Amino acid sequence: MDDRRGFLGRFVAAGAALIGAGLAGIAGLASVPRAQGQVKRWRKAASMFDLGNKPMMVVLAERHQDGWYETRRQTVVFIDKDESGNGYRALSATCTHLGCGVSWDDAKSRFVCPCHAGTFDRGGNVVSGPPPRPMDRLEARLNDATGDIEVQW
Ligand code: FES
Repeated sequence: MDDRRGFLGRFVAAGAALIGAGLAGIAGLASVPRAQGQVKRWRKAASMFDLGNKPMMVVLAERHQDGWYETRRQTVVFIDKDESGNGYRALSATCTHLGCGVSWDDAKSRFVCPCHAGTFDRGGNVVSGPPPRPMDRLEARLNDATGDIEVQW
């Protein structure tokens, strides 16, 4: 009888240990940082020779592999000459109202948001509608060696 109780006690203890180890593993997985802080760096967005006389839409995308975990992110920007005509600017295509994607309207010479009809001028300033602030601007520069317009993202 004592052997059966001893065996049952060891069996229950072993089961509890297995359950505890499983829970600890799950907790450990949950605490693994999913996406490390994305580091901004200069990325090629376009060639200066591709720019026309209107803002050019560019999709920036990247994959990040961290062991078995892969993250992807992308953003859409408009590349254009800046006010001076000698430099370049990059404006985020994400509307500053509620985050819809704006597009360039040639006929209106405006960025237009399809969601609530917000409009922005070529420099990204609010012209009409509900957007509370200008389009977000990313740092942009010309790489003299390559002729590439690079954006910090
Ligand atoms: S999301 Fe662009 S105007 Fe509302």
